[in-house]
Amino acid sequence: MRVSMVNDDVLRIGVVKNGHKYRESPAVVVKPTVDLASGENKIGPWLVKVNEDSVHVNVDGVEVNLRFSYSNGQFTIRGNLGLADIVYGLGEKALPLNRKRFRVTMWNTDAYGYRYGSDPLYVSIPFFIVTRNHVSVGHFADSTARMVIDLGVERGDEFTVTVNDDQVDYYVIRGPRLRDVVTRFIGITGKPALMPKWALGHQQSRYSYYPQGRVLEVAKALKDMDLGNTVIYLDIHYMDGYRIFTWNSERFPNPRDMVKKLHESGIKVVTIVDPYIKVDPNYQVFKEGINGNYLTLDSDGGLTIVQGWPGKSALPDFFNREARDWWSSLIERWVRDYGVDGIWLDMNEPAAFDYPNHTVTSKVITHRLDDGSRVSHDYLHNAYALYEAMATYEGLRRAGKRPFILSRAGYAGIQRYAAVWTGDNTSNWEHLKLQLQVLLGLSISGVTFIGADVGGFAKYVPGDGGSRLFTLTPELLVRWYEWAIFFPLLRNHADVASPDQEPWAFGPRALELIRDLLRLRARLTPYLYSLMWISHINGEPIVRPLVYEFPNDDEVMNIDDEFMLGPFMLVAPMLNSGTSREVYLPGGEWVNLWNGEVLKGGYHMVDAPLGKPPVFLKSGSLVPTQESEGVLGILAVPGDGEFTVYDDDGESQSPTPSTLSLRISGDRVTVGDWANPMPQLPTTVILKVYLGKEPSKVMVNGVEVPKARFSAEPGQPSWYFEGRLINIRVKVGSETMII
Ligand code: GLC
Repeated sequence: MRVSMVNDDVLRIGVVKNGHKYRESPAVVVKPTVDLASGENKIGPWLVKVNEDSVHVNVDGVEVNLRFSYSNGQFTIRGNLGLADIVYGLGEKALPLNRKRFRVTMWNTDAYGYRYGSDPLYVSIPFFIVTRNHVSVGHFADSTARMVIDLGVERGDEFTVTVNDDQVDYYVIRGPRLRDVVTRFIGITGKPALMPKWALGHQQSRYSYYPQGRVLEVAKALKDMDLGNTVIYLDIHYMDGYRIFTWNSERFPNPRDMVKKLHESGIKVVTIVDPYIKVDPNYQVFKEGINGNYLTLDSDGGLTIVQGWPGKSALPDFFNREARDWWSSLIERWVRDYGVDGIWLDMNEPAAFDYPNHTVTSKVITHRLDDGSRVSHDYLHNAYALYEAMATYEGLRRAGKRPFILSRAGYAGIQRYAAVWTGDNTSNWEHLKLQLQVLLGLSISGVTFIGADVGGFAKYVPGDGGSRLFTLTPELLVRWYEWAIFFPLLRNHADVASPDQEPWAFGPRALELIRDLLRLRARLTPYLYSLMWISHINGEPIVRPLVYEFPNDDEVMNIDDEFMLGPFMLVAPMLNSGTSREVYLPGGEWVNLWNGEVLKGGYHMVDAPLGKPPVFLKSGSLVPTQESEGVLGILAVPGDGEFTVYDDDGESQSPTPSTLSLRISGDRVTVGDWANPMPQLPTTVILKVYLGKEPSKVMVNGVEVPKARFSAEPGQPSWYFEGRLINIRVKVGSETMII
């Protein structure tokens, strides 16, 4: 056992079985700095007592007692759990936000048609947060092998982490606030990638759009129906016999031309890339893989063969640099040759049809590490997708792109390379609610660019001894968009056997409601993009459970049917059929986005007609919006608040952002000057402030400005009042007082 500080806020306890050769973790981007001696150590806010097989920590007044043991190829770590402790985190789990009294497994799994309680799913993040009397402490058991985490099931006063590995790096991460733990966890596992701005567009997918003409037709429909900035996905049918990095020439006789046409209408193209390399001696990628020794082998030295989409398939061995480098070059060539914009990594648990639960597991399958040693798949399983994403990211960078990668599987640290979606969910009301719980768990476990298949993926789900059939209704689809538009990844996707579910598939009324929601989404892009930057810089989630923002409000501890978009916007979506719901608003005052009505903190019954999800803005809100082409709006609520708008060209690789600082104090709004301005940034800003009544006058930089209607175009400062909103046109670098 080696106990060290990683930095002032993170303690690391490394345990290794005698004689075992330590493997570097792909999750962690920092190294331990100071080793602690056995006995008592006092470092800043930490008191750490190191014994032979236990470590006692007191940090921020919280006692954490950890006991380590090893037997039969397993490390077990036991820790104390208090009666009123609450547990968050654990990444992608089909469980409530508070994960206490559940036992989960970490083993990336193809979980088609999963339900509430199904476990494990596709992503493994063995990180959890224990909150006691509003003070949070994080735990991260870093091992990519199978692990079971029991949070008080076996014994109410104890959590246990059982790891099928000969090494574990166990991290204790200090708070005291939940947000401190989350951002510090990101501090050690790496900053979320900055995605291209187009990734915030409305994305359309299905399994699968083909032939080429159909793809163009879908693109045209999206444009004709004004359904927002778009991305189209190509699922597995574009390939020649499911050979990755090829096109089916009958279905796609001219892919370059198709991509060019899509780009001309402003649409980006993302192609799926599975890890399956068809075993076919005449297939170039297979030949390269064999010749370069880039493929996974069994322990007897033979090629590992699994059943994938192409039938018999080999698997790239992403665990060594040479294989990753080869993969990066395949991605680079693919992107350069066809102008593809982003890569969708699927089946990367890795899934295989000839294994139990459709998921590879085997001691016989081995991987070659950088030092040439071979390690059984079972120790590395959960990192397969992470290394694949790493190599894919590098390939996109080499092709000159700011990478957009959407991955199904992942491990802690996946946020450095990829967005994650929640896999094969189902088109029913159970999932409308469940998906939120899954996503909120991911968002406080470091993965910030996330979303779920809008409308639900699967319609036929095995279960209850037969196959259960689900139908998507217009109501459910609209309700789904109602909360999905607030998530960074907004993608409608459906299974091969599912009826169509594009926004237009359910007639004019649903289409109109969805279009309005997508317009709201487009308006919110500056807020979302700024939040993406903030997550990239500070590791803050984009979408946050209420407890992240209001850690001292006991009422929100278990709330997972409402969420915050950034610091200001509370969304309380309709999750069942009906037209109203109860909403909890944490202390203070909130403004209803739709009608400007002011509500005090507490429980309220709120109207939620179809197409209008209950959304509230906190006092002191400053939400940057896109009012029209080149016109920045700021939706504000009187109170005290600050926000920084971030912008850049949306696609360069390592940009320095232009920033605009905003402040509100009572009825006084300060808009700074752009820092590091790039060309063509808006200099006119439209302030939209919710007020109870029309003010008597408005002063900008000490001078009274006229009351006069204005169009959205730039022009001189003036103001008008409408509904409960005052609209004030100002320039950047101004201070506005509403009197
Ligand atoms: C998997 C993916 C799904 C995709 C399908 C075909 O089920 O999760 O999104 O459409 O494979 O590629």
